[in-house]
Amino acid sequence: MRTAWRLLALCRPHLPLLLAGIALNVGVVLANVGLLALAGWFITAMALAGQGLAPIEYFAPAAAIRGLALLRTGGRYLERLVTHEATFHLLATLRVWLYRRLEPLAPARLQTHRGGDLLSRLRSDVDSLENFYLRVLAPTVAAVLSGLLLVAFLALYDPPAAVALALGLTIAGLCIPVASERMGRAPGRRAVAVRADLRSDMTDLLRGLGDLTVCGGVEDRAAAIRARGQALTAAQRRQARLGILGGGLSGATATLTLAGALCLMVPALRAATLTGPELAMAAFLVLAAFEAVAPLPAAFQALGETLAAARRIFALVDAAPAVTEPRQGAPLPSRFDIAIRGLRLRYAETAPWALDGLDLDVPEGGRLGIVGASGAGKTSLFNVLLRFWDYQAGNVTIGGVPLRDLDGDTARGLYSVVAQHTHLFNASIRDNLRIARPEASPAELHAALRRAHLADTVAAFDDDLDTMVGENGARLSGGQARRLAIARAFLRDAPILLLDEPTEGLDADSEQAVLDGLRALMVGRTTVLITHRRAALRDMDAVISLSAGKACSAPPDWALR
Ligand SMILES: Nc1ncnc2c1ncn2[C@@H]1O[C@H](COP(=O)(O)OP(=O)(O)OP(=O)(O)O)[C@@H](O)[C@H]1O
Ligand SMILES: [Mg+2]
Repeated sequence: MRTAWRLLALCRPHLPLLLAGIALNVGVVLANVGLLALAGWFITAMALAGQGLAPIEYFAPAAAIRGLALLRTGGRYLERLVTHEATFHLLATLRVWLYRRLEPLAPARLQTHRGGDLLSRLRSDVDSLENFYLRVLAPTVAAVLSGLLLVAFLALYDPPAAVALALGLTIAGLCIPVASERMGRAPGRRAVAVRADLRSDMTDLLRGLGDLTVCGGVEDRAAAIRARGQALTAAQRRQARLGILGGGLSGATATLTLAGALCLMVPALRAATLTGPELAMAAFLVLAAFEAVAPLPAAFQALGETLAAARRIFALVDAAPAVTEPRQGAPLPSRFDIAIRGLRLRYAETAPWALDGLDLDVPEGGRLGIVGASGAGKTSLFNVLLRFWDYQAGNVTIGGVPLRDLDGDTARGLYSVVAQHTHLFNASIRDNLRIARPEASPAELHAALRRAHLADTVAAFDDDLDTMVGENGARLSGGQARRLAIARAFLRDAPILLLDEPTEGLDADSEQAVLDGLRALMVGRTTVLITHRRAALRDMDAVISLSAGKACSAPPDWALR
């Protein structure tokens, strides 16, 4: 129930459009029922007039029938237009809302989710929410309103028949849909979960296809995916069966209600308080009234899937961000020296300390090299500086301003980063560079490439800046990808440089090219360089070694120059 309320609250900005859709829905149902009822009345009245029993004036009813037919068709068109328009607005709002809520969670709170699962929440779960208004909310509200109006109208002619109609509508519009929702809940939940798993498996499979082909694991993975596909089909089949059963039961209820109402109207017909044409009108009205509740079994069944999708989305966005933003962020520091005292960080309450009382200083414009064994906490230090993770103890200041007083975006604005794992988007070189500065001109892009010692390589590509780099830079060599990251850092032109193993995995020539690029980049910037490579440390003013999250002076074999 809470999930439904939260969904309703999200619908609020589009309330006028949503209400217009519901009003049109009611209008169409009433026009349709009115058309059938009036036609029934008219045909009977005409038949009686033909026998000379009761003369009628037929111009007005004939015109009304034509009017209602037009209203029904035009109204349905307009209703579809408005409800779909409302749904698309709603989906757009939901996507932006979700993205805004996700942003502060990245990367710390999203790392436990599989990429495919996140994608699934962003896409198909949000898409499932379109059911909420289009297939659940609008038809339900419209059914209640039009049902009440029709029962009230029928009561004017024959109260017992109106009671029968009310009963029939309650069974078809409430009891059957509720039962169908109860039974549809489990397969609905299963369908949502299996679909998400399937997507994750597919994403994983495609990403790791190269490795799997080499290791021979493709068949096993494909079999697992096939099994998930079958589970999804089974859940969907059960949902479909329930839908058909609900539809059938609703149809049967309508017929039974009609029979009951007819029986109940006989005494009134005998007593002549109800005329023949009125009986025909009432009969058609009863039958047509069920059109209003016809979408409800499917609606309630979709509710299970919709609420499951909504719950998954809310569970994601309700995670507390790993970093608490200051109420009012401090302005940018005017100096760019880094001072760290007694810094402690762990990634979870029970996890060991990744940083355990770290002290270090980097003067403005100074260059600090950091070495240390794998897992010593080097990248963790950058995670703190970049405000990706909050630290549990100690002080970090930049230019004298406590890091915690800076909001995340301001803090990140201080750095150019060449990360241990740079992500390159499957886009052109131009687009990958412009991430650092969207407004950069081609001349600036070329200059950045030149300073990163990548200009000649890019010039040799067929499409120059428009060359596509492939999935995560697959079409570039490791060294080229790293230099592209350096070119990004040049474009960004921030005062502090954070470099995490920028030459790792490169041969001596590529390393030299990357180092040449870095040397130019470091001029005039406060630099922290993490590396295992001695060649990269030659340009540093000082080197410390990190061990179990603490700094010690660098061992003599790291000695410089
Ligand atoms: N995002 C994370 N979530 C949870 N634990 C993490 C995370 N990142 C690092 N750790 C843990 O913190 C410790 C320090 O990791 P860190 O990445 O800082 O090491 P590192 O010195 O950069 O190692 P490497 O040289 O291999 O890159 C490790 O025990 C690691 O398992
Ligand atoms: Mg690391």
